[in-house]
Amino acid sequence: MSFLSATLSRVKPSPTIAMTAKAAELKAAGRDVIGLSAGEPDFDTPQNIKDAAVAAIAAGKTKYTAPDGIPELKQAVCAKMKRDHGLDYTPAQISVGTGGKQTLYNALMATMNDGDEVIIPAPFWVSYPDMVLLAGGTPVVVETTLANSFKLTAEQLEAAITPRTKWFIFNSPSNPTGAGYSRDELKALTDVLMRHPHVWIMSDDMYEHLAYDGFEFCTPAEVEPGLYDRTLTCNGVSKAYAMTGWRIGYAAGPVELISAMRKIQSQSTSNPCSISQWAAVEALNGTQDFLAPNNETFKRRRDLVVRMLDEIDGITCPTPEGAFYVYPSIAGLIGKTTPAGTVIENDEAFATALLEEADVAVVFGAAFGLSPNFRVSYATSDAALTEACARIQRFCASLR
Ligand SMILES: Cc1ncc(COP(=O)(O)O)c(C=O)c1O
Repeated sequence: MSFLSATLSRVKPSPTIAMTAKAAELKAAGRDVIGLSAGEPDFDTPQNIKDAAVAAIAAGKTKYTAPDGIPELKQAVCAKMKRDHGLDYTPAQISVGTGGKQTLYNALMATMNDGDEVIIPAPFWVSYPDMVLLAGGTPVVVETTLANSFKLTAEQLEAAITPRTKWFIFNSPSNPTGAGYSRDELKALTDVLMRHPHVWIMSDDMYEHLAYDGFEFCTPAEVEPGLYDRTLTCNGVSKAYAMTGWRIGYAAGPVELISAMRKIQSQSTSNPCSISQWAAVEALNGTQDFLAPNNETFKRRRDLVVRMLDEIDGITCPTPEGAFYVYPSIAGLIGKTTPAGTVIENDEAFATALLEEADVAVVFGAAFGLSPNFRVSYATSDAALTEACARIQRFCASLR
């Protein structure tokens, strides 16, 4: 019998992190690899946020805090929920964790029992199914289609709900597709959820602020106030504020759930870094002026990547509403052979050959539960993106 837990045997390590590590290994060996696999902005954290962290250190705000966040940050989250979504929350309804990842994980750990099902539209952020498994639940994956812009339909959601469904995980704009649901598209889903009062909604709004071409972000609790009492709205400062390393995420929801999440956090990690929490107060309360220019940059890069990839014979690359990812299909390349003799049997073979033969790192679609595709993160310089897409073009042209 293994020393390791049975639960752990059901979980796989993050494939996005594995791909980034493989690219780093090749780079260290002297290869000129362009990495398009990391899920973080290449921008620096804004200066006002860094200044707030330095001020917090100088003021000695370097001790334990309440396990799930300082009152000032909870207040800032309440103000944000009111300002951006018209939703009323009190600090007792807010949980602050070490990144968005921890708040999502706490919520699942606090609620899952054996046999509980969690509906996850695919393609999905890689951690959702494994977190559900770690918490003892059963992921119910529902595949979306490129034809429907990778968005779940009301009919698909209705068909996936069973008496054992506990949560529906919703992520818009999405990692890995960038797909963002319009108010009408989301309303079609919330109408279904209104008919099933036992299903709770976990909305992961991490890419809220990264949206282009006038796309208007909305979140389930604002689209359907009738769901307020069974919705956990999760968000964080990692992506929009270029603060991935600071590790601050937060969630807003019913007091009973938030208290249960606090219990888990108080017996595991305790509070997220005190200094990062003060930086996050400034991120949420301070100027939001840098968001618009950052988004212009991201939009320009998105358009560049979509244009160059969609030109390729055998690749279809739709234009998504937000985040900093595109999720092209390689259906037209399956069965072809690379110059080194590898048969592109699936998207994993494609991504591996692309890295080994063309020095471009992307993440294969199977990691996100929908194939045959790959994910490109365009959170890198225009020059690197242009060169990487040119390499992908040449690589695809060389397939026989
Ligand atoms: C959809 C989604 N949710 C949550 C997270 C976690 O963010 P954090 O770095 O704040 O833990 C990520 C990070 O990649 C993400 O893509």
